[in-house]
Amino acid sequence: MFKEGSATPTLVKREDYTPPPFWIDTVDLTFDLDPAKTRVLSKMHIRRNADAAADAALRLEGVELNLARVLVNGAGCSFKMDGETLVLDGLPFECDLEIFTTCNPSKNTSLTGLYVSQDTFFTQCEAEGFRRITYFLDRPDVMASYSVTLRADKALYPVLLSNGNLVESGDLPEGKHFAKWIDPHKKPCYLFALVAGKLVAREQRITSRSGKDHLLQVFVRPGDLDKTEHAMNSLMASVAWDEARFNLPLDLERFMIVATSDFNMGAMENKGLNIFNTKYVLANPATATDVDYANIESVVGHEYFHNWTGNRITCRDWFQLSLKEGLTVFRDQEFSQDLCPNPSARAVKRIEDVRVLRQAQFPEDAGPMAHPVRPDQYQEINNFYTVTIYEKGAEVVRMMQSLVGRSGFTKGMAEYFKRHDGQAVTCDDFANAIAAANPGSALQKLLPQFLRWYAQAGTPRVAAKGVYDAAAQTYTLSLTQTCPPTPGQPNKEPFVLPLALGLLNPTTGQDMALQLAHEAQPVHGQRTIVLTQAQEVLQFIGVPTEPVPSLFRGFSAPVILEFDYSEDQLLALLGADNDPFNRWEAAQRLAMQAALNAMHLIASRADSMPSIGHFDTKNFVQSKFVAALREVLRDASLDAAFKELVLTLPSETYIAEQLEAVDPQAIHAVREGMRHALAVALHDDWAATYEANKDTGSYTPDAVQAGRRSLANLALHMLCLGSEGQAREVWHGKAYQRFKDAGNMTDRFGALSALVASRSQHAEPALAKFHSLFQQEALVIDKWFALQAGSSDAGGDILPKVRTLMQHPDFNIKNPNRARSLIFSYCSANPAAFHRADAAGYVFWADQVLALDALNPQVAARLARALDRWKKLAQPYQDAAKHAIERVAAKSDLSSDVREVVSRALAV
Ligand code: TRP
Ligand code: ZN
Repeated sequence: MFKEGSATPTLVKREDYTPPPFWIDTVDLTFDLDPAKTRVLSKMHIRRNADAAADAALRLEGVELNLARVLVNGAGCSFKMDGETLVLDGLPFECDLEIFTTCNPSKNTSLTGLYVSQDTFFTQCEAEGFRRITYFLDRPDVMASYSVTLRADKALYPVLLSNGNLVESGDLPEGKHFAKWIDPHKKPCYLFALVAGKLVAREQRITSRSGKDHLLQVFVRPGDLDKTEHAMNSLMASVAWDEARFNLPLDLERFMIVATSDFNMGAMENKGLNIFNTKYVLANPATATDVDYANIESVVGHEYFHNWTGNRITCRDWFQLSLKEGLTVFRDQEFSQDLCPNPSARAVKRIEDVRVLRQAQFPEDAGPMAHPVRPDQYQEINNFYTVTIYEKGAEVVRMMQSLVGRSGFTKGMAEYFKRHDGQAVTCDDFANAIAAANPGSALQKLLPQFLRWYAQAGTPRVAAKGVYDAAAQTYTLSLTQTCPPTPGQPNKEPFVLPLALGLLNPTTGQDMALQLAHEAQPVHGQRTIVLTQAQEVLQFIGVPTEPVPSLFRGFSAPVILEFDYSEDQLLALLGADNDPFNRWEAAQRLAMQAALNAMHLIASRADSMPSIGHFDTKNFVQSKFVAALREVLRDASLDAAFKELVLTLPSETYIAEQLEAVDPQAIHAVREGMRHALAVALHDDWAATYEANKDTGSYTPDAVQAGRRSLANLALHMLCLGSEGQAREVWHGKAYQRFKDAGNMTDRFGALSALVASRSQHAEPALAKFHSLFQQEALVIDKWFALQAGSSDAGGDILPKVRTLMQHPDFNIKNPNRARSLIFSYCSANPAAFHRADAAGYVFWADQVLALDALNPQVAARLARALDRWKKLAQPYQDAAKHAIERVAAKSDLSSDVREVVSRALAV
């Protein structure tokens, strides 16, 4: 039989799209659920697509199914198999088709299709998992009405769920029972779901604005009900927000969320029956951090918002994935911002989102897996659930909103639903609707050029230069945009770039009035200028003194800005810019300059392994930058969350992206050196900051409290790191005490991290105590593994630690959360520990990619991407990394998932 991955990989191309030869109008599914052998009876009514050839064969996809029977209009028929595809020739224009198959959920470690997790059945059908349940036209443009009957042992599987409404249920002989569900909405098969097992639910009845009643349910394992309040609150807030902001109501009587601990991704938006990774549902103050709470809010929102953007209007084909994902990420980002209590918290959320984009998407766009927001080809669609499709896709939607305005965008969304509700459409259809609803807008006028954001991969660079003419009182800003080549795309055309800018008067700290040379009147404060050309010159007149340009405010376009700011200009922006995003950005640039300078010094004396001792602490400590950071810490007008962001140095990954050749050890040495210097130089301010923020009262996850906790935790971290002698004893003692007494996980884990990061003598006892306190809490044990695998390397001691932890009784490579917490935290989130001169990190990586690939190709392929940027590494890392990738690529029976990632890595 055909084995996945053993065939020559086939490339799927966007240009090859053709409509399906048949439609499937209705599907009636009956499941006899049994872990070892589940029987699936599918009765479909099918009809030829009048636009397709009248004699076209019906080709139904199936994977790892046992086929028992095929009936056409109730009678046996002839069929053939083409590999795993079931081919039916000579079908009438319309007919009933009945297919009976069995499958083995208990052996399914891929966590796609129908699988068993902790004695409960779950499904995961996006993108192409439905074909593991029954033979089907497994493509999103085939939308059908579903009715589903579930039959199972009543004692073992008391709860039986599927999409839509429960219409019938009851007992059956031999201790079994059944439930019948009908989904009132047509849907593509990737949105099908079933769940069966021992579950309990938190329930909430709500009445929508329009007066309709709905039942919301969050299903979890017995014992986890006390961790569902926040998810339910987030769900209620999501329902209210979508109605208020976009006039989009809940279209179902019942909306269910079910949590499982075995899940490949974050969550899945199955119609009316969202299935979630427990990580994005379960939270109480004792087990979840503020970051967990915030993630739950945004993922619950994200999946809920898919009900309209994804489910009511879905994708024509998987190349259009960003149609639903980019838009829905944009919507969940807006949702979280709108829940913020003040503008500062909104800015913090924006900075966090941009940080993800720059740390993860920019490297993707510069590496071997670079692809447009709407890709042109793929081998394995699962590999394209990427930060480019999601986060860059969201930035593209955000730019549309800034080009038509917030209310224009709301109108555009209404137009999109008016045109396409119930359809499977393309990214172009979305952009056309937004533009058409806003005649005369920049988006509508520039639409064909704007659409290049969907077609061209790579991060655009904007090089800007400013010249001030004191006599003429003009400021001339020259802007040049370029975009580097990416695989298959050597040349790029200019993008439409919304440039939100202000000119800061460095003496007053105010925005200057902005008047372009051809304009009659100045505009006060910030404005957005739309760039469209490779080169553009903006001349501002009536400029009284040399300004400091504040460009791409709020990160108004996803570009890399190259502007040769002086230290004083950056200090002016950090101190006074009206845009909080660019204040933060100025601090990041100052830190980056300091890091790059230090890196050059280290490189110039490359006689020994770079170490933290090579960092010139004295010079740094006396810099204006450090003085400015002290001012930020002391500034009573700034929020704690914002201070924490400004005082956090750019990550090692982000620093690496700015370099030609990457020496991960040098980056680590410099960044750690800077952190130590900040810890020592600002010691007294850290202490005052800690005291002022350490107590937040009874726990709520709101942005203000969470911000104070994050700043207190950073301060404690710095105090543990930067104290010497007696003071070290004192602060380590305080941290250990806080670890033991903490009233919430944020504070407890913050203290634990500080002890581990500062290599305190209390670290080991604290880790042991933490494990014994939380051994029944899987999500907390994940944190325990992740902290150890991700902590700062000294003398190569992390890899042996990771290898030891792989043998820990709590480690289980089959559970993706656990695998991520140990293996990914080491390979993907701890560069200096992973990139070892002896190549042992890469050997470990290759071993784990291969081990995971035999169990779960989706997860294996994610891990495979840890070496995406191998070409950028300095020697000896580069050769050693290539070697490891080649070893993986040499394996003959790789999954198509891992095969695609490693062959693209080696092709650059
Ligand atoms: N559509 C899901 C989301 O963005 C994510 C998703 C895609 C997924 N493929 C998956 C989830 C496979 C689990 C498994 O919300
Ligand atoms: Zn999504």
